[in-house]
Amino acid sequence: MSPPHTIRRIVLTGFMGAGKSTVGAILAQRIGWEFVDADTVIESRAEKTVAEIFAQRGEAVFRALEVEAIREYALHDSLVLALGGGAIETEATRKLLATLDRSCILFLDAPLDILVARCLAQPAAAERPVLADREGLLRRFNARLPYYRNAHLTIATAGLSPQAVVTRILEAIEKRCTTVAATQGVPIR
Ligand code: S3P
Repeated sequence: MSPPHTIRRIVLTGFMGAGKSTVGAILAQRIGWEFVDADTVIESRAEKTVAEIFAQRGEAVFRALEVEAIREYALHDSLVLALGGGAIETEATRKLLATLDRSCILFLDAPLDILVARCLAQPAAAERPVLADREGLLRRFNARLPYYRNAHLTIATAGLSPQAVVTRILEAIEKRCTTVAATQGVPIR
């Protein structure tokens, strides 16, 4: 299944463990688009891991690098872009996403306990600075939820394989484009 031609890019948001990177890579492969993970862009530019950037330069510097990386890729065509879970907290990123034309912003949703369990099951769990801050997790999650919920589409991922999430995403995009086109004559903005 291909996305409707009115859509030029798909942006994946959601908390850590939502599956943005895994799902994004499978989605991009399925529709023949490029996949870019914002964290990977930041790491290759800084020649440091996200954990090293947090530890050596602080979260504020990481967030500034994150906005730059997103700004550079957000206008690419035929692109699936996975944002880091905290990107949405930065106002400049939210403004950028709000102005993107012909784009579909997707929130991959799951309850916090499932997200944390998924992260802890990954070999790189110890390298997640935000996961290490257990006391701050719920606060961050609650602060971000309203922003995640501003996405065009929300996909509930609990209990679904990444492949099944991709199928749900494509179905939801197809349905939304049909509905929006029928009622307003415009594509997703
Ligand atoms: C972060 C999530 C991470 C990464 C960084 C900060 C966060 O990305 O950007 O560790 O603030 O939630 P993922 O959501 O891809 O794990």
